[in-house]
Amino acid sequence: MDEAKRAAGTAAAALVEPGMRLGLGTGSTVAHLLDALAARRVADIAGIPTSRATEERCRELGIALLSPEDVAELDLAIDGADEFDASFQVTKGGGGALLREKVVATMARRFVVVATPDKEVERLGRSFPLPVEIVPFARGPVRRALEARGASVVLRRDASGPVLTDNGNEILDATFPAGIEDPAVLDLVLAAEPGVVTSGLFIDLVDEVILGAPDGTTVHRRTPETPAD
Ligand code: 5RP
Repeated sequence: MDEAKRAAGTAAAALVEPGMRLGLGTGSTVAHLLDALAARRVADIAGIPTSRATEERCRELGIALLSPEDVAELDLAIDGADEFDASFQVTKGGGGALLREKVVATMARRFVVVATPDKEVERLGRSFPLPVEIVPFARGPVRRALEARGASVVLRRDASGPVLTDNGNEILDATFPAGIEDPAVLDLVLAAEPGVVTSGLFIDLVDEVILGAPDGTTVHRRTPETPAD
């Protein structure tokens, strides 16, 4: 699986051109992207990291950093995903970076997801839980709202207690036994729920998906609206 992730990350790094302003995602597939990007030594690139972990790795690799204050728009954002469907809707946030990832994806003219074929699903939210970032005070009401929609909900924890995101919030992981029937509607419903910061649903944001295979090959899929290179 790691070879497949490396293939996807390396293929995405090849999309980066001199002078680009980038969005740099989070996760194990993006880790390969960052390595490949640093190895390519593309001139005058800089990126907004979507997590402290990515920020730290960029510093180690010498990739210049930006903040969302610095630029109005990004040329290209590249990030991983937990699941994607045939309509290019994706869920993210397995690594807890969903809010910054969504901010950065929304700033990008072109948003490319790097993944492996096992992440393609018929329905989102069934085999991998949907993360929902919440302010801690709203934990009970948001949990009940998700349960009323058929989800089983778990507060994300580690050995020291509830996991806090880079923004100081908590995460509820919601599994929908029948999958999410209408991801766009659920996204709107959750956005209107007081105390929800954001959900891991990325609706109509993805332009392309690069899928890596263990033999090092990749498949590049584009939405019907996305022009080929
Ligand atoms: C982090 C994410 C990741 O992009 C997602 O979890 C995929 O990670 P990986 O590439 O390690 O499988 O959304 O919040």
